[in-house]
Amino acid sequence: MKTICAPGQMIRASRGIRAKRKSVGFVPTMGYLHEGHLSLVRESRRITDTTIVSIFVNPAQFGPSEDFKAYPRDLARDSALLRKEGVDLLFFPDAKDMYPPGYRTYVEVTGLQDKLCGRTRPGHFRGVCTVVLKLFEIVKPDVAYFGQKDAQQVLIIKKMVEDLELGIRVEALPIIREPDGLAFSSRNRYLGPEERRAALVLSRSLGEAKQLISRGEKRADRIIEKIKAMIGREPLARIDYAEIVDGQELDPVRSIREGTLIALAVFIGKTRLIDNLVIGP
Ligand code: PAJ
Repeated sequence: MKTICAPGQMIRASRGIRAKRKSVGFVPTMGYLHEGHLSLVRESRRITDTTIVSIFVNPAQFGPSEDFKAYPRDLARDSALLRKEGVDLLFFPDAKDMYPPGYRTYVEVTGLQDKLCGRTRPGHFRGVCTVVLKLFEIVKPDVAYFGQKDAQQVLIIKKMVEDLELGIRVEALPIIREPDGLAFSSRNRYLGPEERRAALVLSRSLGEAKQLISRGEKRADRIIEKIKAMIGREPLARIDYAEIVDGQELDPVRSIREGTLIALAVFIGKTRLIDNLVIGP
């Protein structure tokens, strides 16, 4: 596995790969890799000729009071994991090369970016779209892999790719969970032992919602009530939002149907975790 830091060098490397008519799969990440990230890498390895992974903790998507500085970083460990997976290229740019002095261009997917996570994290998706578009321009992938864990993120990226005719296939892959149900997240490492236990309330409340639905409950308000009550009983948890929305526009729905998204953001102590469930057929 080759590691490239300079955007210009990455552009040339990717051009070389495409000149050989090899397909390029791309997995953008912020590092501190876990099984969720690796599931995306494995799918890219299975489908495309070449797999490129980026690690970049993107300052533009963190609010002023968020955890940009504290965000976990471990390049040596990440590199070893990616090498073991057979990744071809690691792109590890520096913030001063991604956003050089005088940088002024930002991308917004209006409407969608202001809902759910966008409401409590203003500017977050503007930062995500900006960096992802820039990474797409540098890497020029055929297929890009994202996790359904960040359901709103992948929806917004798909819309950006469609609106700007980027010609990239965007794949959303299922949420990978720890054996006890907690969705893998780089932020799980912030959790103390008591908080780690309390964090199960996210997946458990979604599990309870799923059960209610399988027993025939269709009313969104009833399901939200149950979820909120369950999270409310966990003293270390504080709800940021718990919403039931349609899977396209992310607007609240009154009744559940196929494709409906149940999305949660919950603070466990100071750590904000997200999880979601898409209603199947
Ligand atoms: P990061 O949080 O590192 O996540 C990188 C990718 O891994 C995202 O597509 C995310 O949805 C996916 N992922 C995270 N946890 C997962 C899990 N438990 N199961 C499946 N997939 C999971 O998301 C970002 O970075 C950034 O916003 C980024 C897109 C890189 C732009 O900076």
